[in-house]
Amino acid sequence: MGIWQGEPSGQFPLRGVMGSMPKQSPDRLTIARPDDWHLHLRDGAMMQAVAPHTAAHFGRAIIMPNLVPPVVTGAQAAAYRERIMAALPEDTPFRPLMTCYLTEETDANDLEIAHRDGIITAVKLYPAGATTNSASGVSDFDKVRPVLERMADMGLPLCVHGEVTDPDVDIFDREAVFIDKVLKPIRKKVPDLKVIMEHVTTQNAVDYVRDSRSNLAATITTHHLIINRNHILAGGIKPHYYCLPVAKREKHRIALVQAAISGDKRFFLGTDSAPHTDANKLLPCGCAGCFTAINTLSCLAEVFDAAGKMDKLENFTSLAGPRYYGLEPNDDTVTLIKGDPVSYPSSVETADGPVTVFDPGFPLHWRVQ
Ligand code: NCD
Ligand code: ZN
Repeated sequence: MGIWQGEPSGQFPLRGVMGSMPKQSPDRLTIARPDDWHLHLRDGAMMQAVAPHTAAHFGRAIIMPNLVPPVVTGAQAAAYRERIMAALPEDTPFRPLMTCYLTEETDANDLEIAHRDGIITAVKLYPAGATTNSASGVSDFDKVRPVLERMADMGLPLCVHGEVTDPDVDIFDREAVFIDKVLKPIRKKVPDLKVIMEHVTTQNAVDYVRDSRSNLAATITTHHLIINRNHILAGGIKPHYYCLPVAKREKHRIALVQAAISGDKRFFLGTDSAPHTDANKLLPCGCAGCFTAINTLSCLAEVFDAAGKMDKLENFTSLAGPRYYGLEPNDDTVTLIKGDPVSYPSSVETADGPVTVFDPGFPLHWRVQ
């Protein structure tokens, strides 16, 4: 399959981030344990197979609610949390941070109780039809405004999939148009709502977050720091690099890397690790999602090291996220060690079939101790 996981392929030499000369880095880095602020764990057999990989490295993760049917109530979020914990060893320190899927029927009282009882950490807004399992999402944003106002009052953050779904809007423009047509009006009408623009993929989104004064942050995925749209489409189609929002031009990838390595507290890691079986990816109409939970920390260390910014990795993976969510960083640590290239499996077996692991296209020298 040409998937590289361990031996140098030179497939995508890691391009330096503009202006920075690679510096001599130490070969060891200890950081507060990372969190993943956007993760798909799925359910059933798939969850059994993938959840332990996230729990091995991460302290907490914001769990996406786009199951079939979606997690819309506090009771469903509580039940899903139980199922996740049951898929992990009893003594795991990993904590799933649950979300409810916002629909036009969402009951603000239910959210309030779930938030008060510590069941949910955020609410997820999917524009209807934007991505995998988003059919129950929001079409008429005015209908959810009262719920958003209540969320602002109770300090419950909104995680946003920032793409319009209008078929007339080019897929590469959907994030930029969403900012102007949806996000700006929502934030103007409900200025006290704490918003996380998830998996940003464009310079436009980076600039919008940077220019905001308050109540806005963004997550950035591992794969969007590494691939641009050529990696998906040039020289043959690569379904395993197809995810939503779709990767954009190289200039946008560079903007994301610059935001991630900047130390700016408004940008933090949300892997959007989104496992699908190979059978569901390799279809005439294949599913969107990259599975990065296993090798994310090695990939990120390579990106930050190449930019000479290993000192900013902890902010991105472990400090900025909890700060924005009003939580403490994890009190334990992980140590990353640089050495000979590390091997990861090219796929993970699940009872539903294999799931291909994201191939960064370059050797990974950093491993988690
Ligand atoms: C996600 C999934 O598969 O659930 N896919 C993806 O490409 N990221 C949905 C999402 O977050 O858009
Ligand atoms: Zn996602």
